[in-house]
Amino acid sequence: MSAVLEHSPATDPKYGGSKEGILHHYDIGNDYWGLMLGPAFAYSAALFNGPGDSLEAAQERKFRWHMASAHVERAESVLEVGCGWGTLLRMISEQPQVNNVVGLTLSDAQTDYLNSLGLKNTEVRAENWAVHEPKAKYDSIVSIGAFEHFAKDGDTREQNQRVYRDFFERCHRWLNPNGGLSLQTIAFGNMRREEASEFMTTEIYPETDLPYLNEIIEAVDGLFEVVAIRNDRFHYARSYDEWLKNLRARRGEAVAMVGEEEVRRFERFFKLGSVGFRMGKIWLLRFSLRPIRDDWSVSGSFENDADFRLA
Ligand SMILES: C[S@@+](CC[C@H](N)C(=O)[O-])C[C@H]1O[C@@H](n2cnc3c(N)ncnc32)[C@H](O)[C@@H]1O
Repeated sequence: MSAVLEHSPATDPKYGGSKEGILHHYDIGNDYWGLMLGPAFAYSAALFNGPGDSLEAAQERKFRWHMASAHVERAESVLEVGCGWGTLLRMISEQPQVNNVVGLTLSDAQTDYLNSLGLKNTEVRAENWAVHEPKAKYDSIVSIGAFEHFAKDGDTREQNQRVYRDFFERCHRWLNPNGGLSLQTIAFGNMRREEASEFMTTEIYPETDLPYLNEIIEAVDGLFEVVAIRNDRFHYARSYDEWLKNLRARRGEAVAMVGEEEVRRFERFFKLGSVGFRMGKIWLLRFSLRPIRDDWSVSGSFENDADFRLA
């Protein structure tokens, strides 16, 4: 059997996402994360509509974009892969027609925090998507800022590609044929993988590897039709700038929470990330994906295509 075929959750406990890598980055204190991220409590690129827009408004706009992209407006059952501190889970659970929301995360601190919120019709699981077994099909799947963690630094391109393909095959299987998948991820842009900053791959995001756009396109081939792709790299640069501003405004409190060394690490991380996006070394990709079905016919029409609403 080839090394690629052997690569599976059964042979590699870190397949699809390293729990240790996640805990290193995320479980350093919910209060510390809240201080940096602000009231939106979202840890992913926002979607700004102009220079005067606030981070909070831009985060809400981003989540609404993904809800429209995955057609949550007509969904009863929704999965979020990588739910963070649950801002999107809450927005989805407030939709009147939604009766089942499932959120997956690898962070124990996020799971405990989310369970304490008691969101309506919502189940939060400390579970890797690679071992998730849904009770029934979902109408919408959203994943924001998690795909970056699916492949491991040091694995081969073939192994990474196997994981990406597996993710999309599962999403395709889990979705109702009429459903939608919305995905947001950082990707390598105008740079070679070998040029990745050692600080980022060891101190900030250990045991992770970013995809290239072409690797994602290859992984969805024959499973999902691409309805839209946006590269919003400047929006991520600005999100990093806003988080750095939040951290600097309450630096003394932050140091009391996690110590000087950790705060310095985050200051460096946010500055480096912002520069990387501005220079186009890394991109911020948002995808709207529609499952490919074998019953598509000439009766398909613009009127039935809810995606025209995706601005
Ligand atoms: C950058 S945070 C984004 C959180 C949230 N989506 C947001 O926008 O605020 C990434 C999230 O993905 C989760 N994650 C990463 N790899 C995962 C995996 N293999 N299975 C489930 N969750 C995963 C992490 O635990 C974390 O909650």
